[in-house]
Amino acid sequence: MSSSASRVTCPVLSTRLTTAARAAELIHDGDNIGISGFTGAGYPKALPQALHDRMVAAHERGEQFRIGLWSGASTAPDADGVLAEAHGVSTRLPYNSDPTMRALINSGEVDYIDAHLSHSAQYMWFGFYGNLDVAIVEVTAVLPDGLLVPSSSVGNNKTWLEQADRVILEVNDWQPRALEGFHDVYYGAALPPHRKPIELTEPMQRIGEPYLRVDPAKVVAVVETDRPDRNAPFSEPDEKSAAIAGHVLDFLRHEVAAGRMPPELLPIQSGVGNVANAVLAGLDGSEFTGLTAYTEVIQDGMLDLLDSGTLQAASATSFGLSDSGVQHFMDRIDSYKGKILLRSEEISNHPELVRRLGVIAMNGMIEADLYGNVNSTHVMGSAIMNGIGGSGDFARNAYLNFFLSPSTAKDGAISAIVPMVSHVDHTEHDVHVIVTEHGLADLRGLSPQDRAPRIIRNCADPRFRDALSDYFDRAWAERPTARHTPHLMSEALGWHQRFLDTGSM
Ligand code: COA
Repeated sequence: MSSSASRVTCPVLSTRLTTAARAAELIHDGDNIGISGFTGAGYPKALPQALHDRMVAAHERGEQFRIGLWSGASTAPDADGVLAEAHGVSTRLPYNSDPTMRALINSGEVDYIDAHLSHSAQYMWFGFYGNLDVAIVEVTAVLPDGLLVPSSSVGNNKTWLEQADRVILEVNDWQPRALEGFHDVYYGAALPPHRKPIELTEPMQRIGEPYLRVDPAKVVAVVETDRPDRNAPFSEPDEKSAAIAGHVLDFLRHEVAAGRMPPELLPIQSGVGNVANAVLAGLDGSEFTGLTAYTEVIQDGMLDLLDSGTLQAASATSFGLSDSGVQHFMDRIDSYKGKILLRSEEISNHPELVRRLGVIAMNGMIEADLYGNVNSTHVMGSAIMNGIGGSGDFARNAYLNFFLSPSTAKDGAISAIVPMVSHVDHTEHDVHVIVTEHGLADLRGLSPQDRAPRIIRNCADPRFRDALSDYFDRAWAERPTARHTPHLMSEALGWHQRFLDTGSM
């Protein structure tokens, strides 16, 4: 580790250098804490552990110590995970994928506010979430004039830094110093009724500044770290995700041929996970070139696309790389300058911009129903998996959206195509194309009763097709005056109960 003191070159802020344990003493029971972090990148690494220790000690003394925990999006076991282990979180927003935190949410211990990511900053500004007591934000460096070089994600950092009463900075020496220049932080947002159009018309247009600002008077501690981001591994695309990617590519070719899309496509958004990464891998071997991305997360697949020239440039709010992806990025960091831009999540996911740019949105799902409603977040209507994330921001406003999933879950026991979804994130009014390894259902311009046979025929696993068709046929026959989205209600709900009864869940 090089001396991280050299990363804090502001004379005023260098006087606030301290240890994580001392900084944690400035946080109190009942505080709302806004932390940096998005998809396991750029989250604070030292403070959560120090806070964990403080919480455990307080609990052992019989004292209560719980905080409201707000972030950009998901963090990591050494942030969400340790705070959950300490039973020190009362409220969590706007997105979580940590399994320990998830278990506490699903047990009812933690209140979870699962929000559209583009909403989280503005809800803070509107006053919907209450007071933010402390911001804990990881940065790459503190410059002599007090400006902050952001780290591997921007997320909600601008808002947390502006809104918090007190600020703790973590200056992480592990983050490459050369990240300076990869960011564009927009400072032009105003509140209604004074809002103006956001003047962004190209994915890579700069509309802000490369630095985060902070009022030095609010900075109560600066802590140095050298710990790596979470960097989740990606598995090689399996047969199913490769098949899903193939269907998406064929469809894009079809759209170009039909004149509904230019040959270099429109800016792509790709959700998190292995299926999304497989689609990117598929694009890499294809004839498409000169693409752009207006997305949330830069995954490994995007770096490959940038290397090959398939992708010209990508705007996002965060990295979400594997260990080898990080190494790859660090080895060639200068070649990515000007080709990758990280923005606040309120801008990367902004409905106005997604709609203006005409984004092609590709996101995973848990299940879809016969009429095109999509559930991205809940298992059996009750247990949260991760959250809606940016999927609603992008899908609802996209030029074209895809929802992707294997046709079955849990080793084939559960169909991802169901009569009625057990929770709705994306309504039938929003969903364009559903894709599984078996094929793709283009729902655009179809009435619900025309969607059902198409989804069953093209997307459902063959083992479930008869049961789904039988359901639809009987619902149609038995509801002669209610055939817009015909349902047999007790049977629709019983479909999921079946899996509970057979012990698949
Ligand atoms: N019924 C029950 N469980 C299901 C299921 C279903 N129909 N479909 C998936 N699951 C379970 C899987 O079994 C797996 O559970 P496990 O971790 O215990 O094995 C888990 O959900 C994840 O599924 P997986 O097949 O690994 O897919 P994924 O990693 O691509 O994730 C989502 C799929 C929907 C959970 C994920 O895309 C997500 O969180 N989406 C919402 C947020 C989003 O779209 N963000 C991107 C916006 S930029």
